[in-house]
Amino acid sequence: MTEGTRLIRGLEGVVAAETKLCDLDGAHGRLAYRGYDIDDLARHATFEEVCHLLWYGELPSKAQIDRFTVALVAARAIPDQIIEAFRVMPKDTDPNRPLQAAVAMLGMFDPDTNDNSHAANVRKAIRLTSQMATAICAHHRVRSGQPPVPPAPDLGHAGNFLYMLTGRRPTPVTTKAFDASLTLYAEHELNASTFTTRVITSTNSDMHSAVAGGVGALKGPLHGGAGEAVMRTLMEIGEPANVDAFAERALAEKRRLMGFGHRVYTAGDPRAAILKGMAEEACRQSGQFKWYEIAVKLYERIHAAKKLIPNVDFYSAPLFYSLGIPVDDFTPVIAAARIAGWTANIIEQTDDNRLIRPRGDYVGPGRRAYVPLEKR
Ligand code: CMC
Repeated sequence: MTEGTRLIRGLEGVVAAETKLCDLDGAHGRLAYRGYDIDDLARHATFEEVCHLLWYGELPSKAQIDRFTVALVAARAIPDQIIEAFRVMPKDTDPNRPLQAAVAMLGMFDPDTNDNSHAANVRKAIRLTSQMATAICAHHRVRSGQPPVPPAPDLGHAGNFLYMLTGRRPTPVTTKAFDASLTLYAEHELNASTFTTRVITSTNSDMHSAVAGGVGALKGPLHGGAGEAVMRTLMEIGEPANVDAFAERALAEKRRLMGFGHRVYTAGDPRAAILKGMAEEACRQSGQFKWYEIAVKLYERIHAAKKLIPNVDFYSAPLFYSLGIPVDDFTPVIAAARIAGWTANIIEQTDDNRLIRPRGDYVGPGRRAYVPLEKR
């Protein structure tokens, strides 16, 4: 044991940074970005406004959002070399991998790649946010044998994303639902992927390297990968009538149910409550109400048996599905939202940096004599 320390598995409850970005009250199920309640932001603000809030500290004025939107739209193009790289990647690979590769490649082309000044980091945050959206959609088009859809300058970030993904202009209702989900996923304090970006940043590496690491952390099913896993569970159940039998079996097998539970929220995840309503509406509108019904019924059974709360990924799954997002692109979509928070954390970490370097508690064998190879 290291002097004066004790092992805290999973760093549970450890405070590793001061932050002005996210105020997460797990006991009361409350979440705010820079003092603004998540519910107000999801209902009234656009994702662009939320990015401005996270990177500059304040919601933008009308003149500021106009200028900011121009900058985000101007940054949407990605280098042709990235599209070419998508063409030679295996078509059936997990889309998180091409996304991670695309982020690394964007770092090779970015004019500020090695500049970690505050101003350069904000410029890179703007570019990465726009370019990651384009890269995710272009990758999906290329892997499904379709040409990438060029960004539409007259559409906002959310609407343009759905347009580049599907080639169809989304309705205002669909755009609002997706925009609000991007806001709900934009930032969440020191979750695993954001912590990863901070660790990488703390070595004075650079924003693109940190974000590529963040994508890797997000991909896991205990974190951002849970959304995809939720949808696969709903599909495995198939019909509302099958929920009871499924739940009984899952509980008997002590199965870990994706989309349930949270390290910090004990009184419920406020994002899930907002997404539930959005999922209900979107599933109804798309004629796929059964996914919402299965989700609600599953929640009722699991909550009654284990008191587990649904987390953000539980209702975003049927919502994303009914918006036409491919199931294996759910996590890249979450990355397209969380880039706002990752980059804000990278900026905050860079501006007040100290190397993040915890200790390990050695529990292996005591000191022993080296035995030459021929004597082993
Ligand atoms: N299904 C079944 N049991 C669960 C679940 C679950 N999803 N989550 C927690 N539990 C039980 C667990 O078995 C344990 O019970 P016991 O004390 O009897 O052994 C108890 O609750 C505590 O679980 P834990 O794994 O020690 O808690 P944790 O803080 O390490 O886990 C978690 C948090 C999110 C990893 C976990 O709840 C989980 O695996 N959930 C499913 C994956 C998921 O939905 N992840 C998304 C999280 S929110 C969004 C994000 O981070 O991107």
